[in-house]
Amino acid sequence: MTVLVAGATGMLGSKIVSALLDKGNLDVRAMVRSINDTNPEKRKKIDAMKAKGATIVEGDVMKPETLLPLCAGVDVVVSAIGNNEVTVPGQKNLIDAAKQQGVKRFIPSDYSADYRKLDYGDNDNLDKRKEVFEYLQHSGLEYTLVLNGAFMDIITYMPLFDLEHQTFQYWGDGETPLNFTTTDDTAKYVAEAVSDPGLANTALEVAGDTLTAKQLKATYEEATGSKLTEKSLGSIAEMQAWITAKKASASSLNEYVFHQYMYAMVSGKGKLDRIGNARYPHIKPMTVKQFLSKGDS
Ligand SMILES: NC(=O)c1ccc[n+]([C@@H]2O[C@H](COP(=O)([O-])OP(=O)(O)OC[C@H]3O[C@@H](n4cnc5c(N)ncnc54)[C@H](OP(=O)(O)O)[C@@H]3O)[C@@H](O)[C@H]2O)c1
Repeated sequence: MTVLVAGATGMLGSKIVSALLDKGNLDVRAMVRSINDTNPEKRKKIDAMKAKGATIVEGDVMKPETLLPLCAGVDVVVSAIGNNEVTVPGQKNLIDAAKQQGVKRFIPSDYSADYRKLDYGDNDNLDKRKEVFEYLQHSGLEYTLVLNGAFMDIITYMPLFDLEHQTFQYWGDGETPLNFTTTDDTAKYVAEAVSDPGLANTALEVAGDTLTAKQLKATYEEATGSKLTEKSLGSIAEMQAWITAKKASASSLNEYVFHQYMYAMVSGKGKLDRIGNARYPHIKPMTVKQFLSKGDS
């Protein structure tokens, strides 16, 4: 089976390439924008992927003519394109090329909460995923979505934590389950999803851990030995009102989009309802306690 990974130099994409190669039975094409990239960080990633056995191929999702040859002979396209202005048009181009070349399955760059349950406007970034998913469904290509909640790697950077003031803050009652998965574990699940026949036209929902906000605070304290002051920031409705007001006056998405992600989580609207970790018992995903106990968060 041949798998093409778009976004292979990315934070998650490079881990997906590595996890696919670890399977030992897949031909992996790692799509990069420049094979001769001189950026030291990207150079290191490209050289490491090549050394591990990936075929490095050059392509740009905004240049459709580069994608057709890359999709020839490919069974599964995995997208790990980042979240920006290319997310929608670039992935649409990739879907078109995959369709034209008879690719069997497409995994879009989701790796998030269950955006299918959100409404347009709930989260400006997740709206892009909704649009790509609709396009993918209409394309007739077989798809698999990989939904993992929030990346555990950035857990203490979420608006729940204000470590500068040793404070843990939350909206609502703090009792809604929140899903977290490390990027390493997400990549391992993607490597399973590419060839799992039971995942045709559905989502693989996975979570390394599921904790309420209150459990998360307690877990942080247990893992680090640091006590945090608990602060309620108000109801979910007040959070929504704050986001709406902020969005109206914001000059950049970054002023409110992280709160939109939190809204999808603490409201329960984007919660994963069918966690399928058990499909792959050999993957033992990291828990939040294990992650925070490492001390590098
Ligand atoms: N659930 C969560 O908490 C969470 C958190 C973070 C990210 N994510 C999601 O995970 C996914 C991957 O994110 P990431 O952080 O790994 O992204 P990233 O590090 O920013 O990597 C993006 C990749 O896309 C490539 N790319 C950008 N424009 C391209 C183009 N025109 N043609 C071809 N390739 C292009 C980049 O290539 P260059 O290296 O050449 O720029 C890079 O390889 C995204 O869907 C993101 O939203 C989820």
